[in-house]
Amino acid sequence: MNDPNGMVFYQGTYHLFYQYYPGGTTWGPMHWGHATSPDLVRWQERPIALYPDSLGYIFSGSAVVDAANTTGFGKDGKVPLVAIFTSHDPKGEKKGTDTFENQSLAYSLDAGTTWTKYAGNPVLKNPGSRDFRDPKVMWYAAGKKWVMTLATKDRVTFYSSPNLKDWAKESEFGATAGAHGGVWECPDLFPLLLNGQPRWVLVANLNPGAPNGGSGTQYFVGSFDGHAFVPLSEQTKWVDYGPDDYAGVTWSNTAGRRIFLGWLSNWDYANQLPTAPWRNALTVPRELGLQRVGNEIYLTSQPVPEVQKIVRPGITLRNVAVRQPLDLTPKLGKLGDKFELTIKAKQLAGFSLVLSNAKGEALAIGYDRAANHYFIDRSKSGVVGFNAKFAGRHTAPRLATGPEASLTLLFDAGSVELFADHGLTVMSELFFPTEAMTTLKLSADHGFTVQELTYSAVAVKVQ
Ligand code: FRU
Repeated sequence: MNDPNGMVFYQGTYHLFYQYYPGGTTWGPMHWGHATSPDLVRWQERPIALYPDSLGYIFSGSAVVDAANTTGFGKDGKVPLVAIFTSHDPKGEKKGTDTFENQSLAYSLDAGTTWTKYAGNPVLKNPGSRDFRDPKVMWYAAGKKWVMTLATKDRVTFYSSPNLKDWAKESEFGATAGAHGGVWECPDLFPLLLNGQPRWVLVANLNPGAPNGGSGTQYFVGSFDGHAFVPLSEQTKWVDYGPDDYAGVTWSNTAGRRIFLGWLSNWDYANQLPTAPWRNALTVPRELGLQRVGNEIYLTSQPVPEVQKIVRPGITLRNVAVRQPLDLTPKLGKLGDKFELTIKAKQLAGFSLVLSNAKGEALAIGYDRAANHYFIDRSKSGVVGFNAKFAGRHTAPRLATGPEASLTLLFDAGSVELFADHGLTVMSELFFPTEAMTTLKLSADHGFTVQELTYSAVAVKVQ
């Protein structure tokens, strides 16, 4: 699998679709896989929602609730869910044409269970660009119209429509803003409140060109008037600095909440990860917010509170003074392969937390005071040789300015997601130990006192 697609909340159910090739564990003809959840934590696999057709593979896109039946797809009072996706024609691509990506629709009249492709596809035709994909659509209430944000090579292009079928170009953004180490993909545009004031966030995924190499997710904070996006600042910002969070976008129809989900991988090595019989997964769903630091406004992302449903009561160590490397394991008991670790300190200091096993495989996570950055080093974390770009030490700037430390780490069998400073700095990272990680050691450069360290097992069975 790769990108999450078509995330929409409807009648108490979170729908998640995703780029999926059922015929193998490397990228192939794309379908939309489907899973549903009542709470973002317990997921159930559903039948494939969209299959490739004469217009091509089903690439990334979004889904909306067409409550006012602007499409006319609704029948007998049934509200249509509408998916807007890219039809990617592999034959046209091979022939070297530049119009092989077009936008299409499918709709569901049974709350997302079954989907019908619209007979008039494609609804937005390619004007002649080899990169013309990943439509993210929202209802722009102030202008009573749908707005589509589309990835168009080195920028996004905004379109609008009264009915999801007829689209008019509004404007473009990004040719001279942000990072351009690769192509822009999977954009998103949404409002978020900061101190009661609405701000607009434009997400633009980028591959390659991310701060730690390969795929990554940049964003801009600014204003949007239904026609054009204007950023507040020139600074390039990243939703997640780790190497393994890509193609993330947010759920639609979640009222006051803004929930983001990314692909826990990187195109640098996604097709070579040492897993079987599956390959690739998603990050934990994250709740987004905004926070001002000095003159800049940043996104914050934190695991959705629903994750606490699967976090068991933990063991808390208090006032841990670290001078010599300290083995925490005797105090925490046997480590599971899924756990949450939270660290709270009044005064952040340079530290390193090392998760290791009897074979000497180790994953180090910490904070470098001199550089003022967080880091994750997976160079010796187990299987790393499947791709030269995988091993490495990755860094993320600390954006918070206060002395207090507050870190949440979510470990799954082969991944860690770090949320520092209430979600101001985030890093997601994969690792592949060859046997269970059994030891957790904390060391400090010049002493570090942790007021509270909590280890909690995570169990997928919901209480
Ligand atoms: C991003 C992406 C999208 C595209 C999809 C194809 O990872 O390249 O731009 O729609 O994957 O699977």
